[in-house]
This record gives sequence, structure tokens and C-alpha cells, in this order.
Amino acid sequence: MTCRILVYCDDGATLKIGEELAWALGAQLHEIEASAGEDGVWSRMKSGLFALFSGALTVDVPDQPWDRSDLLILGAPVWQGRGARPLRQWLETRPDLPERVAFVLTSNGSQYPAEAVEDLTALTGRKPVAVLHLGRPELTSGTWKGPVEHFLDQCVVRYRQSA
Ligand SMILES: Cc1cc2nc3c(=O)[nH]c(=O)nc-3n(C[C@H](O)[C@H](O)[C@H](O)COP(=O)(O)O)c2cc1C
Repeated sequence: MTCRILVYCDDGATLKIGEELAWALGAQLHEIEASAGEDGVWSRMKSGLFALFSGALTVDVPDQPWDRSDLLILGAPVWQGRGARPLRQWLETRPDLPERVAFVLTSNGSQYPAEAVEDLTALTGRKPVAVLHLGRPELTSGTWKGPVEHFLDQCVVRYRQSA
């Protein structure tokens, strides 16, 4: 199974999970870089003033044949109840994606981010084969191994079923 992982991460948590998944799946891990032109704009965007600066964000996604993977795992932190804007902004460009996608979301809250999952489902046009959500309690206590294993099982089993 060819698997690629693409994450946007601001503060380390989502990348850490991406690294764990990459190791477990023998997958390539790629990162989205985001920046804004003026000092301070990026931090204000992250504080919630996204709409005011919608034109200022530069999103850099590695050039990869994303659609030629058996599975693409997309990861991001939850921002304002949705996947972080850099990932969403890339998906809004309608990149070619493989049939099978899975989502990884990290957040401070422990509540399942249903709105973020629905939004990514709409943006990708794909029903995810698996969703992994890790909240701050799991991330800080290190009790995320179980959910990660369950997520990996779903990714691999559903690949076998569809292959
Ligand atoms: C701009 C911004 C908005 C956020 N919005 C939410 C939110 O709506 N719900 C939530 O539970 N956590 C929210 N968080 C917290 C992040 O989702 C959480 O810290 C995440 O694990 C960070 O992942 P990272 O280390 O990969 O950047 C927000 C963080 C930022 C910076």
C-alpha cells in the first residue's frame, strides 16, 4: 500500500502524530508550510482574524503525485472548530486526490470535532476511511497509542477490503 501523509502543524502536536503514523505505515510524511507577508499578520490570523487577512496567507505544499497514493492521510489542528486554514486553503484549490483519504485532527478539547470532519469531507469530496482525533488530554498524558492503533487498523483493513 502506497501511503502519503500531509500535515499542517503549528505547535508540534499534529506533526508528532504524523511521524508516528509514518513510522508505523512506512509512509512518506510531508508538511504544509504557511506564512504571511507582514510581521504580526500571521499571529493575528491565528488569533481568529482570518477573514480580514484572507489574501495574505501563502501556503506551500510539496509537489507530490498525491492522487497516485493508495491512501492519503491529511492532518491538521482544529482551529475555530474546523481544520486549520492552511490545509483548508490548499484543499480549496481542488488538488487531485486519491479515492482513499483519512483525517487526523488534534485539538485542545476532547470532544470529537464533527464540524471539522464534515468540512474536510466536503472539501476533499471523499468519505474518509478513518478519522483520528486526539485532544489535549490524550496528547499530554501520552494515552494516544490505542486510538492510533485503531486508526491504523481501519486504514489497513479497509485497504485490504477494497484492493
Ligand atoms: C488559531 C487557533 C484556533 C484554535 N481553535 C481551537 C478550537 O476551536 N477548538 C479546540 O479544541 N482547539 C483549538 N485550538 C487548539 C489547537 O487545535 C491545539 O492546540 C492543537 O493540538 C495544536 O496542534 P499543533 O501543535 O499541531 O499546531 C486552536 C489553536 C489555534 C492556534
